[in-house]
Amino acid sequence: MSQNPLIRKTFRSSFETVKVLESPESGKNYSLASVIRNRYHQSFVRKTLRNRFEIIKQLGSGGSGDTYLAIDLDLPGRPHCVVKHFHPKDSNPAVGAIAKKLFVREAEVLYQLGNDHEQIPRLFAHFDEGGDFYLVQEYIDGHSLTQEIIPGQRLRENAVLILLKDILEVLVFVHEHNIIHRDIKPQNLMRRHSDGKIVLIDFGSIKKIGALGAGLTVVVGTPGYMPSEQAKGKPKLSSDIYAVGMIGIQALTGLVPSQLQEDPETGEVIWRHHAQVSDAFADILDRMTCDRHSQRYQSAAEALEAINSCLLGLESSPSGGQKQNIIDSYFLAYRNFILLLGIGLGASTSLIVIILIYTFLNASTLLPQQPTQLKNIIQKFIHQSQLTNLNNLNSNTELKKSNCSIANSTEEIKFNCLTNN
Ligand SMILES: Nc1ncnc2c1ncn2[C@@H]1O[C@H](COP(=O)(O)OP(=O)(O)O)[C@@H](O)[C@H]1O
Ligand SMILES: [Mg+2]
Repeated sequence: MSQNPLIRKTFRSSFETVKVLESPESGKNYSLASVIRNRYHQSFVRKTLRNRFEIIKQLGSGGSGDTYLAIDLDLPGRPHCVVKHFHPKDSNPAVGAIAKKLFVREAEVLYQLGNDHEQIPRLFAHFDEGGDFYLVQEYIDGHSLTQEIIPGQRLRENAVLILLKDILEVLVFVHEHNIIHRDIKPQNLMRRHSDGKIVLIDFGSIKKIGALGAGLTVVVGTPGYMPSEQAKGKPKLSSDIYAVGMIGIQALTGLVPSQLQEDPETGEVIWRHHAQVSDAFADILDRMTCDRHSQRYQSAAEALEAINSCLLGLESSPSGGQKQNIIDSYFLAYRNFILLLGIGLGASTSLIVIILIYTFLNASTLLPQQPTQLKNIIQKFIHQSQLTNLNNLNSNTELKKSNCSIANSTEEIKFNCLTNN
C-alpha cells in the first residue's frame, strides 16, 4: 500500500496531517485535525515573554488561541496575569485573517473598557514576539459561573434574578460603547473572590457595530447561547440579551441549552414546565430569548430595568418569590425542629431506661439494708415458698408415717399368715 507522503507531516510544529479528505484535479485536501497540543503546550510553560511574563500553566484553549496563567516579573510581589497567545486552530487563511482581526480588537476593547470598568479585566500589554502575537491582561482571582450553574441543579428564582442583574449591570457598560460581546456564557463570566462581583471576560468574539464592513459576515458565538440572527452572521446588541436569558433559563431549570426543546412553529425555547418560577420573571425570560430579535429587550439597560422591577415586585409582594422564600425558611425551620425533637425524645427515652435499670440493680443490691416495697414483696414471696416447703415436708413425713403403718400392717398380715399356717 502506497503511503501518501504528506500524511503525518507536521506543519509549523502544531498541525499534523491525518488523512486525505478529497482529491480534486487541482490537488488534495488534508484533514489537519490532530494538533500536537500537549508537546506544544509543555514547551510553552516556563517560557518568559519579553523578559517579563513567565508562563505558569495553561488556562484554556479557544478557536483563536490559547490562554495561560503567568507572573509579571517586573512588578513587586510578582502578581499573576493572563497571557493570551494568538494561535488560530483553523488552517483556512481567510478564517485566520478574521481571527487575527478579532484578536487585535480584543486588545483594543480591553484597553478601552477595562480601564473604565472594574468588572472587565485591564489590558497590560500586547506585542509581537518571534512572529507570534500576545495579549496580557489582568488576572481575575475567582471562579467561572460554571461552578454555580451546575447541570441538574435548579437555582432559586431570587438567586437567578440577582445573578442576571449582576451580569446585565456590566453588560450595560459594554452596550453603551456599541459593542456586542457575542460570547456570553457561564464559562466567560467569572465571580471575583475578593468582592463577589461578576467579571466579564473573553472579548475575543466582540463586534463593534459597523466595524467589520459591509458584506463580510462572520459567525462567532457558542451554540445554545447564540440566537438565530447571530448564527446568520448578523448579531445585534439584543443577541447578548438572548445569551443572558438562556443563562437564566439554564440556572432555573438545571438544564443546559442543548437539553431544551424549541417550539417548531415559533422557534421559542420551551422551558417553563422545568422550573419553579413566577409568571413575571418567566415572561421577562421569554422576552429575552424571543426568536425574533425585534421583540426582545433592545439593550442590556432595558433588560436590566425589567429585572430590577421584577426584583422589587417580588420583594414587596408576599404572594411572589418572597412568599416562596418564607415557605422555604419555614420548611427549613420545621425540618430542624423535627430533627431536634427526635433527638430529644431519643435521648430522654434512653435516659429513662438507664435510670430504671439502675434503680432495679440498686434495689437488688441494697435489699438487706433498705426495707423497700420490692424487698417486702420478695420477703413475702420467700416466706410463702418456705411455708409451702414446710407443708411439703410435713406431708412427706405423714406419707412416710402412713407408709410405715402400711409396712407395719403388712408385717402384721405376714405374721398372722405365718401363725395361721
Ligand atoms: N482575566 C482572566 N482572569 C482569570 N482567568 C481568566 C482570564 N481570562 C481568561 N481566563 C481563564 O482562561 C479561560 C480561557 O480564556 P478565554 O479568554 O475565555 O479564551 P477562550 O475561551 O477563547 O479560550 C477562561 O475560561 C478562564 O477560565
Ligand atoms: Mg472563553
